[in-house]
Amino acid sequence: MAGLGQRRQTGEVAYVDEATGEKVVKLGGLEFPPRKVWMKTFGCQMNYHDSERILSHLKDLNFSKTDEKENADLILFNTCAIRDLANTKFYSQLGEIKHNKKKNEKLVVGVGGCVAQTEGKTLVKKYKHLDFAFGTDVIDSINDLVYRSYAGDGKFSVNAWDRSADFSIQTKITHGSPQAFVNIIKGCNKYCSYCIVPYTRGKERSRKCAEVVEDVKKLVKHQGIQEVTLLGQNVNSYGKENNESLSQLIMELDKIEGLELIRYTTSHPYDVSDELIEVHGKAKKLSKHLHLPVQSGSKSVLERMLREYTPEHFLGLCRKLRKAQPEIVLSTDIIVGFPNETEEEFQDTLKLLDEAQFDFIYSYVYSPRKGTKSAKMADTLPDDVRGERLRYLQKYQLGIQEKLRAPLKGQIMRVLVDGQSHQKGIQKWKGRTNCNRIVHFSPDKLEKNYLWHWVDVEITRATSLSCVGDIVQDYGRRLGGE
Ligand code: 5AD
Ligand code: SF4
Repeated sequence: MAGLGQRRQTGEVAYVDEATGEKVVKLGGLEFPPRKVWMKTFGCQMNYHDSERILSHLKDLNFSKTDEKENADLILFNTCAIRDLANTKFYSQLGEIKHNKKKNEKLVVGVGGCVAQTEGKTLVKKYKHLDFAFGTDVIDSINDLVYRSYAGDGKFSVNAWDRSADFSIQTKITHGSPQAFVNIIKGCNKYCSYCIVPYTRGKERSRKCAEVVEDVKKLVKHQGIQEVTLLGQNVNSYGKENNESLSQLIMELDKIEGLELIRYTTSHPYDVSDELIEVHGKAKKLSKHLHLPVQSGSKSVLERMLREYTPEHFLGLCRKLRKAQPEIVLSTDIIVGFPNETEEEFQDTLKLLDEAQFDFIYSYVYSPRKGTKSAKMADTLPDDVRGERLRYLQKYQLGIQEKLRAPLKGQIMRVLVDGQSHQKGIQKWKGRTNCNRIVHFSPDKLEKNYLWHWVDVEITRATSLSCVGDIVQDYGRRLGGE
């Protein structure tokens, strides 16, 4: 198989067709006229980032993105397997595509991502209108796969793992925003009993620190990037195989001139080192928000989940982080209704929410995933109890958030504006603070475009989910004011 991290140079050559005036890309024996790709992404930030990478590769094959499925020459799905809900949505949408194929025989359809990694062969067999499937570790070979399909290779599925010693890539971005996701580690070695990720994303592999630093420097210098989010399934494990660490990487990135904000996600509490906690106190550009998934507040549930820490250990981390960085804001993920979760175990999670004082949480009902350890557990917990517990927990947490956020009223917050919003029919702008809180504000002048401006906003109202305020200062697109 071709080098997967670094896609094999397949030698695309572009020329302009004199008859049509259009750009044509020649590859092997095939010609690629301008074509349209429609893509649907499910799942996490990792998947959205992969999709962006795929689209960027496809540009080299003369594909441009369309939002109209009906106009597409190529339809791609990037799938998620983490819970049944994302799965179900994907299968129903894939089924629908057969109508598009009926209308346009030349349409090519591909499925990538986590579901394709484990189920690719079955999918291609089962869905007549599906041309190919590709796993999570071959996305950098997307053009080879699309080429194969146009070359008439029939139906196929590729889910090879990248076996090269290094994980080496360059970040590709297609959007014009000053925010970029940068992959630093892929895969996961943890095997939490409920989680499908190690099966869909493979073993941990980190990029070298020097490569990431160079990559980010380039993004800042040539693409105007001001905010980076370091991405991986367990970024706290970053660099272990190369004797490097996330702390070291952050301190290096902190020195890059023109970079304003560094975020990282997602973390495993077991691997949060004292050194990293210290970095939260001393790295000037590191976000004052940390997402630290705890999953449950019950010692026995955490044991059944094979999480390798106790609620006490987790709360200890929160205390240490707050000591190192008093302004830090924490958020988490909770799974409700793990197999045989008792009422007492559930109550322990509510207790943890009280103690940890999270700024927000993502919460999910447990969803058994085929092939994981927990899916084999005999489970007697009824689904309606799971649903009730989720609703109760969400309401409980909103109460915590409301109290926690009330004192934000009157504060001035710096915000990077990322879009418009409408509140009660009034057009506003919205953005995020350093600590990842959403802030809405009314423009000074209605016609003024604030997109990607840094602004200071005085908060006039703080609810459990967002803040509203008045703009007090507009710095423009760069904090330095260039
Ligand atoms: N069921 C429900 N939620 C899950 N998550 C991961 N696996 C499952 C599962 N089988 C949640 C975890 C994780 C987040 C990304 O998804 O809370 O942190
Ligand atoms: Fe879903 Fe996990 Fe795959 Fe992300 S890595 S798409 S959350 S299964």
